[in-house]
Amino acid sequence: MGTLLIVDRDGKETAVEGIAGRSVMEIMRDNGFDELLALCGGSCSCATCHVYVHPDFADRLPPISSDEDDLLDSSDNRKESSRLSCQLRFEATLDGLKVEIAPED
Ligand code: FES
Repeated sequence: MGTLLIVDRDGKETAVEGIAGRSVMEIMRDNGFDELLALCGGSCSCATCHVYVHPDFADRLPPISSDEDDLLDSSDNRKESSRLSCQLRFEATLDGLKVEIAPED
């Protein structure tokens, strides 16, 4: 299916199996990354699933929606590479995708 690389807030990188059709948030949560709170469960209303996406993958991701954009604007830690991981569906073309969990707001 592919690999998803996750960098936690301590800078530790872990490779997990990416599952096509699941969101990056769900894959992270199912692999025990509890520091990613994902409080709204993936309905794009909390911004606690904020990650930074490696620039190599920026043009392979779905476009950002206005809701996602507004939520990211509420974060003091927003960067150009910021995305909400619940809005990123993993698929084969994202093999090797690297995301870093953003600091807690
Ligand atoms: S889990 Fe709430 S916005 Fe992603």
